[in-house]
Amino acid sequence: MKLTLQATVVMTAILVPPPSTAAAQDATEGERAFRRCAACHQVGPDAANRIGPHLNGVVGRKVAAVEGFRYSRAMAASEFAWSEEELAKFLANPRQAIPGTTMVFVGIRDEVEIANLIAFLKQFETDS
Ligand code: HEC
Repeated sequence: MKLTLQATVVMTAILVPPPSTAAAQDATEGERAFRRCAACHQVGPDAANRIGPHLNGVVGRKVAAVEGFRYSRAMAASEFAWSEEELAKFLANPRQAIPGTTMVFVGIRDEVEIANLIAFLKQFETDS
């Protein structure tokens, strides 16, 4: 009886897949994640500023660089460009990354989701 129980435990351990360590960026998954942003942001050929600025070419773009969009003072005063690292930090916790931002979004906890989202955003060039 004891033996059988042990065997069961071992079998279970073998059958449970190891946690995935692959954090490969997946733009298709990122498109799905972008639904959380789409209420305020647009990307693509006809992207316009809505509640938030359009995000074409945002990866590598200077912070607060979209003409005609009224940024918060906090964001307008930020002197850096959106590297993937900065974007990831911002999307994880917007108000911690840029205190005073008017982007009302709690943030994304899942690092893979953030990576996918950035992969999705990278597809859109500044002038697309
Ligand atoms: C409720 C509306 C809202 C949602 C949802 C939202 N944003 Fe924003 N976003 C804004 C606003 C407003 C700003 C401008 C903030 C400021 O000026 O402080 C902004 C700014 C940004 C910026 C900086 C743009 C620049 O030109 O420097 C990025 C990048 C960004 N958002 C990405 C995202 C992503 C990705 C998501 C989805 C995960 C998202 N946002 C969700 C409203 C939103």
